[in-house]
Amino acid sequence: MSPSVVASLKLPPKVSGEKPGSGHMEEFGVNFARFMMRCNAECGELAEFNMGGQQTVLMSGPEAQEAFLKTLDLKLSRAAAYQATVPVFGKGVIFDAPPDKMKAQLKIQVDALRYQNMKNYSTVISQEVEDWVASWGDEGELDFLDEFLRLTLHTATHCLLGKDFRDRMTEEFRELYHALEKGLQAIAFVDPYMQQPVFEARDKALIRLQALIGGIIAERRASSHIEYGDALETFMAGTYTDGSQLTENEITGLVIATMFAGHHTSSGTATWTLTELARQKEYSAEVSEELQALFKSDSEITLESLREIPKLEAFIEEVLRLHPPLVLLMRRVIEDIDYNGTLIEAGKTVAISIYGSHRNTDYFPDPEKFDPYRPKPDTLFAYIPFGGGPHKCAGNAFAMMQMKAIFAALLPRYEFELVDPDVTYQDDLSAIVLKPTGPCRLRYTKRK
Ligand code: HEM
Repeated sequence: MSPSVVASLKLPPKVSGEKPGSGHMEEFGVNFARFMMRCNAECGELAEFNMGGQQTVLMSGPEAQEAFLKTLDLKLSRAAAYQATVPVFGKGVIFDAPPDKMKAQLKIQVDALRYQNMKNYSTVISQEVEDWVASWGDEGELDFLDEFLRLTLHTATHCLLGKDFRDRMTEEFRELYHALEKGLQAIAFVDPYMQQPVFEARDKALIRLQALIGGIIAERRASSHIEYGDALETFMAGTYTDGSQLTENEITGLVIATMFAGHHTSSGTATWTLTELARQKEYSAEVSEELQALFKSDSEITLESLREIPKLEAFIEEVLRLHPPLVLLMRRVIEDIDYNGTLIEAGKTVAISIYGSHRNTDYFPDPEKFDPYRPKPDTLFAYIPFGGGPHKCAGNAFAMMQMKAIFAALLPRYEFELVDPDVTYQDDLSAIVLKPTGPCRLRYTKRK
């Protein structure tokens, strides 16, 4: 952009309440979703705030969100905004890979979540759900936040690493994975290489996981068996444009990256879906009837049978509107941007709030009301639980299939009720991925 053009542009309006040194960090930390809504209400489409020295511009409304989601990595970089993932996924993986390799890795990741594997995945998930409910009995009470975290860790490892690995899955694997998760807390977005015990544990865990998964890769390379139908098979077969294969550590990194993308997002959505089913009696009765008609309690759940379940789908979509697992997306501005006459300078961060977008009254009147049949907005970029543009969620179809498989198995057999007063079940916005505040206790009773 020429200096005369830059000089002709205005700057984004600034959000009030900035404190010397920390800027808006404190208010952001208390409840960042609410803070984002205040920024939008006060300043409109563009709102600039200060994250402890990092100037950040919130872009709100479908038009600005579309520009954010469609602008290519060269101008708006995810890599620069998500450097905290590098020591978690490993060197040379996704955001640490050169652009052409990153593109190839993302394509291989997308391939692993495509149709050809989906049939296997739906069988695997149904089997995991069967094993899970086998010990439930006629009635009981469970903390479903915990339960769904475990279930989706099992489905993710089973779909990604295969049956052999899942059967041999040890406590050690769970601990290593949790050590990596702890390495991705908010402070890692400031500096992921600080001297901190959590980061030391993260680094040790990655080395051990690389050895564990490297062992499976070596086993498979030495074996004559060729069809596994899991993501690891696709990752091992994938190549870069020069025909070379991914290294063992790059493959391990893709496994970890896919688990991170899919685990908490799925468990949070499943927990909120079940909670809303227990809460929204009017709609959940319809969903249960639909599922009871489609799936008898002993009928097999297949990819085909999961394809069309309109009432359940509408219900999950409304859950994803009110409780989007990824509340906030971020990018770093690499080149100055002229957004409709406003200059967003290189070096700043830009963000969109999915949580805020889904509560925009222009598109969602009476936004806090749970209504699966509310009219769809007439623009694509108002309802964005899975993002949009070139980096729209690669696991969208997988995630929806998984949700449908879980509830197609649960609802024809059991009814669910809240254990605690309704107001106890709230969005927990303290973590990177949204979930209900725990414990999330529900009572289940076998249907007559
Ligand atoms: C309800 C569940 C899920 C939600 C709401 C969700 C949401 C999202 C969103 C908003 C993005 C865009 C991030 C950005 O633009 O910065 C994204 C990207 C991604 N998601 Fe999901 N996700 C879910 C489940 C999954 C699952 C189950 C998987 C894999 C098994 C997965 C894999 C990915 C991957 C690989 C990307 C990056 C795509 C790319 O960079 O090109 N997601 N997801």
